[in-house]
Amino acid sequence: MKINTLSPIGIFDSGIGGLIIAKEIKMQMPYEDFIYFGDTKNMPYGEKSKEFIIENSMKIASFLFEKKCKALVIACNSIVSNALDTIYQEFHNKLLVFNVIDPVVKDKTFLFSKKIGIIATPATIRSNFYVNKIKESHQHLDIDQISTPLLAPIIENGFDIKKVSFIIRNYLNHFKSIDTLLLACTHYLFLKKKIENFYLGKVHLIDIQKIVVQEIKKKLNEKKLLCIHSPYKKFPIFYTSSSSTFFEKKVRVIFGKKVCIKKHIFF
Ligand code: DGL
Repeated sequence: MKINTLSPIGIFDSGIGGLIIAKEIKMQMPYEDFIYFGDTKNMPYGEKSKEFIIENSMKIASFLFEKKCKALVIACNSIVSNALDTIYQEFHNKLLVFNVIDPVVKDKTFLFSKKIGIIATPATIRSNFYVNKIKESHQHLDIDQISTPLLAPIIENGFDIKKVSFIIRNYLNHFKSIDTLLLACTHYLFLKKKIENFYLGKVHLIDIQKIVVQEIKKKLNEKKLLCIHSPYKKFPIFYTSSSSTFFEKKVRVIFGKKVCIKKHIFF
């Protein structure tokens, strides 16, 4: 079967981070059907080598392609910054490939910023992907990036507010006189409110999910693949590579009880 407007969008991440992107897709494009893959067994990707990230993300991308998705959304910064070229080369002729970095670094928000802080996983920082990309479009920007390895695993397993506030404070104290902060890991988007409170609104936090999903919607529309009406109501399917009760809980809190959660392991 050829892909068409009713084909699903495939979204993937190492775990719950991409759920924020999926939620925004549901909000901005309520008729879209999607399939989600969270590689919970191999989380955190931020601690893995480039080779590992490429190999595993290619397996997930192939899985979603076989499910007849019309688009792939790489909802993980660690995957984008280490494996985007490989995934893109293999799949861009077969379906639309979106990622959570490109639309953000091109956003006009940066025009009003002088000094930006970036927090991300070790794998994303090691790649230098953000610095290289931002410098291409916004040469005037001063960039300070740090790796924050404790955050994603804590968020994935359900965090204790006191503990996470302490960790955030310690990390953010590193930054001096930034006007903008980029949460360059989709897991961190769950902490946006907390971080905004830390800065008392004095540092701008980029609305990553909005920017990314606006871009997806625009491109789907241009390619005549945007679903604006559906004859039947479909419930999204969520795949995980391990039984994670927190992942399941989070999915049901965000998307309701009627979702389908399945386990899938690659061999
Ligand atoms: N959500 C992933 C990201 O955006 C990272 C989490 C992990 O380390 O697995 O980078």
